[in-house]
Amino acid sequence: MKIGEFHEPNRKIVGRSVWHYDLLESTNETAKELLEPDLEEGLVIWADRQSAGKGRQGRAWASPPGGLYASVLLRPKEPQAWVLGLLAGMPVVKALRHFGVFAGLKYPNDAVYQGRKIAGILSEGVYRRETYHVIIGIGVNTNVDLDRLPPDLQATATTMKREVNLFVANDEFLDYLLSQLDDLYSRYRNTKIEFLIKEYRGQCTTIGKRVSATTSKGTVTGRAYDIAPNGALIIMDEANAKHEFVEGQLKILP
Ligand code: BTN
Repeated sequence: MKIGEFHEPNRKIVGRSVWHYDLLESTNETAKELLEPDLEEGLVIWADRQSAGKGRQGRAWASPPGGLYASVLLRPKEPQAWVLGLLAGMPVVKALRHFGVFAGLKYPNDAVYQGRKIAGILSEGVYRRETYHVIIGIGVNTNVDLDRLPPDLQATATTMKREVNLFVANDEFLDYLLSQLDDLYSRYRNTKIEFLIKEYRGQCTTIGKRVSATTSKGTVTGRAYDIAPNGALIIMDEANAKHEFVEGQLKILP
C-alpha cells in the first residue's frame, strides 16, 4: 500500500518525486508495472519491506523491515542499463561513507565494508512502447540486525546497524543518496562516459586484488587489472593474458 509521497523540486531529475510504500513484492517490479512513457523520469519507488526482493543473477534479496529498498526510473538516450547500474555504485558508497560506514566498491556495484556486503544494485533495462527505460534498484542493509538476514549470508554480509552506533533513519539516508544519484545522472548526461568510468575505476577497491571470476564460459583466476572503457573488469591471468569480465560470480581471493 502507498503510504506517502514526497516532492523535491530542487532536484534535477532523480528523486523529484518519491512514492513510499509499506510492503511491495519488489520495488523494481512495481516500477516496471507503472511504466508509461509519460511517467516522470527520476521517480523513486521506495518500500519499507519487500516480500520477493530480487538480486542479480536470479538471486533473492532478503528485505526485512529496517532496510532500504528503492528503485529509480530513468530514461537514458542510449540503452545502457548496465553501465548506469555500474556507476550507481559510486553514490551508494558515498552515502554509506557520509553516514559513517567507510565502505568500498566491489566490482561491479556491491558496497562492501571489511569484505562484507552491505548494499547491492540491480539495474534492469526495459522497452515499453518503444521507449527505453532503466530501473535502478538499490538495497541497503541500513537498520537491520544481522540475524534478520538469511543464515547463509550472515558470514559475508553486514548492516549499518551493526557497524555504526549512530541510528540513521531511512528517509534521511534516501534523501542524501538521491541527491548524489541526481548529481551522477546529470554528469552522465552531460559528460563523456569515459570520464565517469575513470572515476569509477579510482573508487573500485577490487582493482589490484587477486580474484576468481566465474561465468558461463568457465573460471578465470588472476589480478583485477583495470576497467575497460565499456565498464568491463579486465583480469590479467598468471600467463599475463587479459580477460574481460562483466557478469557472473566474482570472488576476491586472499
Ligand atoms: C544484488 O546485489 O544482487 C542486487 C540487489 C538489489 C536489491 C534491490 S532492493 C530494491 C530493488 N528491488 C528489488 O527487488 N531489488 C532491488
